[in-house]
Amino acid sequence: MKKRWNKSLLVVFSTFLLCFQSCKDVTPTVQIKKRVLSKNGGVVSAHPEATKIGLDILKQGGNAIDAAIAVHFALSVCYPVAGNVGGGGFMMYRDEKGSLYALDFREKAPIASTENMYLDGQGEVIKGLSTEGVLAVGVPGAVKGMEEAFSKYSALKNWETLLQPSVELAKNGFPLTKKQAHNLNKNVDKFKRQNPQLESPFIPKRPYKEGDLFIQKELALTLETIKSEGAEAFYKGRLAEAFIADIQARGGILSMEDMHSYDAKWRDVISIPYKDFVIHSMPPPSSGGIVLAQLFNAVESHAFTSIHNMQDVQIMVEAEKRAYADRAHFMGDSDFVKIPIETLISKAYMKDRMKDFSFSGASPTEGIEHGTIESEETTHFSIVDQDGRAVSLTTTLNGGYGSKVIATGGYLLNNEMDDFSSKVGHPNLYGLVGAEANKIEPGKRMLSSMTPTIIEKNGALFLVIGTPGGSTIITSVFQASINVMEYKMDLEEAIQSCRFHHQWKPEEVFYEDGCFSDELIMGLTQKGYKTKSRSNIGRMEGILITEEGYELVADKRGDDHAMGY
Ligand code: DON
Repeated sequence: MKKRWNKSLLVVFSTFLLCFQSCKDVTPTVQIKKRVLSKNGGVVSAHPEATKIGLDILKQGGNAIDAAIAVHFALSVCYPVAGNVGGGGFMMYRDEKGSLYALDFREKAPIASTENMYLDGQGEVIKGLSTEGVLAVGVPGAVKGMEEAFSKYSALKNWETLLQPSVELAKNGFPLTKKQAHNLNKNVDKFKRQNPQLESPFIPKRPYKEGDLFIQKELALTLETIKSEGAEAFYKGRLAEAFIADIQARGGILSMEDMHSYDAKWRDVISIPYKDFVIHSMPPPSSGGIVLAQLFNAVESHAFTSIHNMQDVQIMVEAEKRAYADRAHFMGDSDFVKIPIETLISKAYMKDRMKDFSFSGASPTEGIEHGTIESEETTHFSIVDQDGRAVSLTTTLNGGYGSKVIATGGYLLNNEMDDFSSKVGHPNLYGLVGAEANKIEPGKRMLSSMTPTIIEKNGALFLVIGTPGGSTIITSVFQASINVMEYKMDLEEAIQSCRFHHQWKPEEVFYEDGCFSDELIMGLTQKGYKTKSRSNIGRMEGILITEEGYELVADKRGDDHAMGY
């Protein structure tokens, strides 16, 4: 009797195990692909649903801009940790003739903001005020940005077609990936704290699990309104009125005037010649293009040997220290402060900056404690269409789920105000310090590190690349590009290889767990470098143009997904 019981238990248990295995295999509905080779182009984004929506638009005859708009709205639904309508970002675009454009749809400081709004009576930074809650919110730029891109460069010329898939995705829901379910559950208490009494999919009755449908009815209505009435509804019409009334009732300082006066701007691209290549990236209010230029200029005469070579690591780290020191001092919104861009990106300037560096030892920077890196989330996508147009777009709420404030309309609001220097020298979420140039001023855009990048080789499109990662964005783009351009890696190896980072302050070389060998760590330590391991750096999405076609690669560090056509 006892034996029979044991035997049937075994059968039940093994059936359960089998089911458990196969259940794991069938969800999520889309099989995630990290590397795809294609003939015509494709889409790489942080979420399979968004990638699929972008590819459908390309297949319907949309160009890279059409696909980018559809992907941006899709990410606001299926990747709410960073995808957004309540945030902002930057887009680099290369058209079929090879002309380059940079679109700035970064958030702005509210008109009622003040330089010391995050300081207490003693002049100390009030913890959390610039990162969570209504005061952390900058004027959202994403919807205006998408409309601006659409009005100039859409091929389909049909806004509704670009919005419809996102409306459906929000209305019908999509299955959560394991990472998403976990991450949402982790943040429920913060959502409750910022939105007491609110009924919302972000505040579920019981914890989410992998495969659960995430349905956002209110967001679907918002997107439906943007679809039929355009950005006007979001900045001037009924969506704006409901949003502002609610934010003010909750103690926020955003106003209708902020919404009316918000504009997305085309900026002058930063272009950096480097050997056979030209690297095109984002100008201020992003620091990305300038700092990237400085990094490439600093290493141009170096003979790279291998990713594990100590001198290669040293010269990259020393370039990073110097460029980030300049970032902290000189950079802010160029509509408000004068930045010596031409000098900073000149070859001569960086040559001079590197003069005091020698391979015999680390150049010291005085130490400083850096801020705690909470959940850092932004998102990047790369698209190429069949006529060779390319979009490299990075967009964000800043921290994961931004300010955790859920707007009337069912979307999350950014906490981008933390990218200003709350106080000179005080480290922000990413440990970055800033000065006068990046102080808070009404209507000013906060300094960013987002670095959507397009690289040409001998005048032809070569690489479309970008990543999230706060302060580490620029160094990750630099490193992955060096991997391809100097170490001749294919894109898969270039993106999946481990990363390291230095940002001047704190005085530490950060490296992904397991990235540096014991020998390398010992060598660096002997030369006076402090090294520190950390979790993943960035989530990069790239497209490399090869002789055979396109190599599309999605970062292994998340649910990122590549599709070609
Ligand atoms: O604009 C910036 O530099 C930051 N708000 C980006 C934040 C970010 O990348 C978070 N992601 N991991």
